[in-house]
Amino acid sequence: MVQTSSTLSIPQTGQVPCHVAIIMDGNGRWATKRHLPRTAGHVRGVQAVRRAVEACGHRGVRYLTLFAFSSENWRRPAHEVSVLMRLFIRTLEKEVDKLIAQGVCLRIVGDLSAFDAKLQDLIREAERKTAGQTTLTLTIAANYGGRWDILQAAQALLRDHPELSAHPEHLDEAALTSRLAMAYAPEPDLFIRTGGEQRISNFLIWQLAYAELYFTDCFWPDFGAVEIDQAFAWYRDRERRFGRTSEQLRSPA
Ligand code: FPP
Repeated sequence: MVQTSSTLSIPQTGQVPCHVAIIMDGNGRWATKRHLPRTAGHVRGVQAVRRAVEACGHRGVRYLTLFAFSSENWRRPAHEVSVLMRLFIRTLEKEVDKLIAQGVCLRIVGDLSAFDAKLQDLIREAERKTAGQTTLTLTIAANYGGRWDILQAAQALLRDHPELSAHPEHLDEAALTSRLAMAYAPEPDLFIRTGGEQRISNFLIWQLAYAELYFTDCFWPDFGAVEIDQAFAWYRDRERRFGRTSEQLRSPA
């Protein structure tokens, strides 16, 4: 089902965020601090992905979205990019059965045409095998950029409705959001970035409009259940007003 924007309808707020989106930052610094190659941090990062999936599933999160590779990450040294690609392939090959056992439906979003054919096949196969799972939808953003997403949505919309170019005033938020790569999910309630930086870095820029933003110095390979509980405790104390006043929230009309 296509979800409406929180600017159009206010989502239910609960103790546990329904949708958590994470920028997994700090792998390289985690490794450098230990005099290891940066890629060792990515290898350890996969263990943190497993912990996050398990912890979110147990706590009742319905959607977990992880930024694994941005459109800008191709600028990294060729060796690091190739290790990351091999890591994605190995992880997809190894983890699908475990995901099914945990009730996890896997989705990959981004411009996948840039990946080699083997990786594209593995992605399609993993999505197909996990498609019926309903406990948690795990989305991996790979070769993803928020601007790319908005642009491809606008292009798809104009392809489907060429008459809109003559009547741009008929274009609305709902039509555009239904063509975003993650149209199957509600907008994130909680955004987490590890590694100490306080940036959104072109991740889900449309959908993060009303998300609560949580930043932690913890490097991604050290992130686990304890850190998730800290983030969720912080989230519980937030007052999500969606443009309203505190008074309106206390006594809704
Ligand atoms: C950012 O840390 C991390 C990445 C660009 C890659 C994330 C990949 C993983 C966690 C492993 C694979 C994931 C899956 C889903 C199989 P950084 O390298 O920018 O760290 P730095 O800021 O310390 O340099």
